[in-house]
Amino acid sequence: MKPPTPSRATAPSAGPVPLGASPAAAVVCGIGAWVPPRVVTNAELARRLDTSDDWIRTRTGIRRRHVVAPGVSTGDLALQAGRRALESAGGAPVEAVVLATTTPDRPCPATAPEVASRLGLGGVPAFDVAAVCTGFVYALATASGLIAAGLARRVLVIGADAFSTIVDPHDRTTTAIFGDGAGAVVLRSGDPAEPGALGPFDLGSDGGLADLITVEAGGSRQRSTGRTAPAPDHYFRMDGKSVFRQAVLRMTESAQRVLDRAGLRIDEVDRFVGHQANARLLDAVAARLGLLPEHVVRHIDRVGNTAAASVPLALADAAHRGVVRPGHRVLLTAFGGGLTWGSAVLRWPDCRPVL
Ligand code: COA
Repeated sequence: MKPPTPSRATAPSAGPVPLGASPAAAVVCGIGAWVPPRVVTNAELARRLDTSDDWIRTRTGIRRRHVVAPGVSTGDLALQAGRRALESAGGAPVEAVVLATTTPDRPCPATAPEVASRLGLGGVPAFDVAAVCTGFVYALATASGLIAAGLARRVLVIGADAFSTIVDPHDRTTTAIFGDGAGAVVLRSGDPAEPGALGPFDLGSDGGLADLITVEAGGSRQRSTGRTAPAPDHYFRMDGKSVFRQAVLRMTESAQRVLDRAGLRIDEVDRFVGHQANARLLDAVAARLGLLPEHVVRHIDRVGNTAAASVPLALADAAHRGVVRPGHRVLLTAFGGGLTWGSAVLRWPDCRPVL
C-alpha cells in the first residue's frame, strides 16, 4: 500500500469527529456491474417446482434471474464487476478493496484478497464485509472510513453474491426469489460538497432476530465433525413473512434517519435505490416515506434479489438507462440478515457505468 497523503482526514484535536461528519469525503467516481449470462425465467422454475409465473410475479415482482454456471464463484462475479468499475473510473489504481458478500468462495480465507490479486492490484489491503443484503452499504461506510482516516485515497467497493449456490433447489420460495450478480463502485478522496460525495450514513443491527435469516452449517457454532452436516443445514433459510415486516419497518426508519441527518426532506430525494428484495416491499417502504412511484428505482424484475449485489446492480442499471442522472439526489437503503440495515445519501456524479 502506498503511504497515505497528508489530508484533511486528521481528526480535530477537540475530540472525535461527530457521527456522520466526514473530514475527507468518499466520492463515487466509477461504477460497474456484472450478471452471469445464464437466465432462469419463472416459466423454467415452474417446470420443475410447484410454482407459477403468476405467483412469483404478483407476490415478488420478479420475472427472471441470472444464475452462475457450476464452478463459477462469487469471486468470479466480483472480479468482473470490479474490473468494470475500475474501467468506469478511468483505470487509476485503487489502494484497498472491500468486498461485501454472504457467499464467499470459502469460509477461509476472505474472498477479497484473491479478487484484488486477480485484478492485478498488487498488495493492497483487501477484506470481506459480512452483513448479508445490507453488505454493500456497510462496505461503502467502511471504505469511506478508510478514506476519511487517510488510509487509502481510492477504494474499490464490491457487492457480490451467488445465492443460487446456497438456496435449496427444492424450496420454491427461496429459489424463486434469489439471483446471482455483482456490482461495484470506485470511491476516491474528495470534497464533501462535490457530486458523488457519500454521506451521511445510517447503519444498524438487531442480533436478537438473527434466526430469521440463517445458514446453519459451515460456521463455528455447528462444529465440523469431518462428516457433511445434514443437507438442509447448508441451505439458506428465511422466515419470509417476519423478514418482510422487519424489512419494511427497518428500511423506512433507516431512510428517515439518514435524511434527518443530512437535513433533507423526502421531496428533495430524486431517486430511491432500495434493496431489491421484493417489489411489494419497495412499494411499502416508498409509501411510508412519502416517495412518488417514479422516484423508486426498480431492477428486481430482471435479476431477483441479488443480496449484497442488489443496491449497486440497481444503481448501475439505473445510471446506465438514464433513470439516475448526474445531479440527482439518491437515497440508498438496504436491509438483510443479522438483522442489519443501512442507508446513505449522495448526489449522483457524472460517471459512465460499465456493464
Ligand atoms: N410459488 C407458489 N407458492 C408459493 C411460493 C412460490 N414460489 N412460495 C411460497 N408459496 C406459498 C407458500 O407455501 C404458502 O402456501 P400455504 O398458504 O399453502 O402455506 C403461500 O404461498 C403463502 O406463503 P407466504 O410465505 O405467506 O407468502 P408471502 O406472500 O409472505 O411471500 C415471500 C413470501 C418470501 C415472497 C415474502 O414473504 C418476502 O418477500 N419476504 C421478504 C424477503 C425479504 O425482504 N428479504 C430481505 C432480506 S434477504
